[in-house]
Amino acid sequence: MTALDYSERIPNNVDLASDRTLQRALEQWQPKFLTWWKELGPSDFNGADVYLRTATSVDAKGWATYGAVKMPDYRWGIFLADRIPDRRIGFGDAMGEKVWEQVPGEYRSTLRRLIVTQGDTEPASVEQQRLLGLTCPSLYDLRNLFQVNVEEGRHLWAMVYLLHAYFGRDGREEAEALLQRHSGDRDNPRILNTFNEPVTDWLSFFMFTYFTDRDGKFQLKSLAESAFDPLSRTCRFMLTEEAHHMFVGDTGIARVIKRTLEVMKELGTEDSEAIRKAGAIDLPTIQKYLNFWFSSSVDLFGAEVSSNAATTFANGIKGRPDEANFEDHDCRNANFALETPADDGAIRIEQVAMRSAMNEVARKGYIKDCEIGVVRWSKLIEKAGYAFRLRLPNPRFNRSVGVWAGGTYDPDGNYVPPELWSASRERWLPSESDKAFVRSLMKGVTEPGKMAAWIAPPDRGINALPVNYEYVRLA
Ligand SMILES: [Fe+2]
Ligand SMILES: [Fe+2]
Repeated sequence: MTALDYSERIPNNVDLASDRTLQRALEQWQPKFLTWWKELGPSDFNGADVYLRTATSVDAKGWATYGAVKMPDYRWGIFLADRIPDRRIGFGDAMGEKVWEQVPGEYRSTLRRLIVTQGDTEPASVEQQRLLGLTCPSLYDLRNLFQVNVEEGRHLWAMVYLLHAYFGRDGREEAEALLQRHSGDRDNPRILNTFNEPVTDWLSFFMFTYFTDRDGKFQLKSLAESAFDPLSRTCRFMLTEEAHHMFVGDTGIARVIKRTLEVMKELGTEDSEAIRKAGAIDLPTIQKYLNFWFSSSVDLFGAEVSSNAATTFANGIKGRPDEANFEDHDCRNANFALETPADDGAIRIEQVAMRSAMNEVARKGYIKDCEIGVVRWSKLIEKAGYAFRLRLPNPRFNRSVGVWAGGTYDPDGNYVPPELWSASRERWLPSESDKAFVRSLMKGVTEPGKMAAWIAPPDRGINALPVNYEYVRLA
């Protein structure tokens, strides 16, 4: 078990002190990161004391301590999970061979692209969420937002370390560029679409942490299988932190629903207008936000048929999430039955090479994982005695990437003529007036223990503290 060294300017467990050149390069990047944090990180709260967890070991049990920290003083560091002794490549053409401690020359640009694409999402989400603190529904939620934000900052550090340590000058340039692209920037946006979408209300934030951070989980799981061992170890530790982000989304949405159900009971109505008037978010609106963030996040897995996916699998660069759970780790001769669009909105099944369908395999695993929370939320509604059910839209719905991109399929996955799709859009996705309504509820609540009227309190606080603990002491 490698201890994390916090006496260093950059906390780490990679023995940074032994490589002076690398250490100096990262120390030059550090102030640029801090400048970025102050300019594009959480607005207005850099002087507040936030009850944050900080990693103290990379052991899955008891790996963090909690305490009041001002966010700019958070100890962003470089933490890799421990080496697995004699780790072997678990899939593809080189299955069974020793994993790589260095980047093989022929895979250099592919690996760099993967690391940059992952790295780009981390600061992007911090930028997307930067104004949310001003409208927090409670101090408990404010603290969770900031916990997610500082850890996404650390994930950026994790990717920047790999770029600096293993990709020479190109890597250093990419590390600079990660601070230059900005979410939603017209000239220099973030690489992936979802990370340019505004997250300006807390319902979107909870949907984002449930659906989009879960995409992160699946990407990290794929990269944790990589034959490039430093990448694998980096991603394995990031997954430990990621679990909390999805918890925030999962419980956040459940609390919004709980509050809505209370209001429905109090008023004795399911009428959306009446529920909204009472200051809660009606269930159909929650469904529309879910439809938007799910369909956007599903795009992040990329095209259903992808020669890149086939190559990175063959080469051992990127595996499937939880590769060990599959029976065939070679897949050279396997096929995948892929649904594709045919004429007149019909759907046909095409047999494609399994290796080129790896994006779709990962996406299917992701969708299954998404389903769990949705079923649980619907149970809350069922228990309260209402017939309404939340559900995931069909993955053909509202796609921008892959074979269904631009297709006009309804949330059940049925083809509808384009005119009908456009006319129905506002029934399926948040309309401008839905967004305006949700935004109208967003007012900062910063008294310890108090909750905004549109969300129920959590069942318990953080780290066994009470819900009414002062999780953020405002400056
Ligand atoms: Fe992350
Ligand atoms: Fe995350």
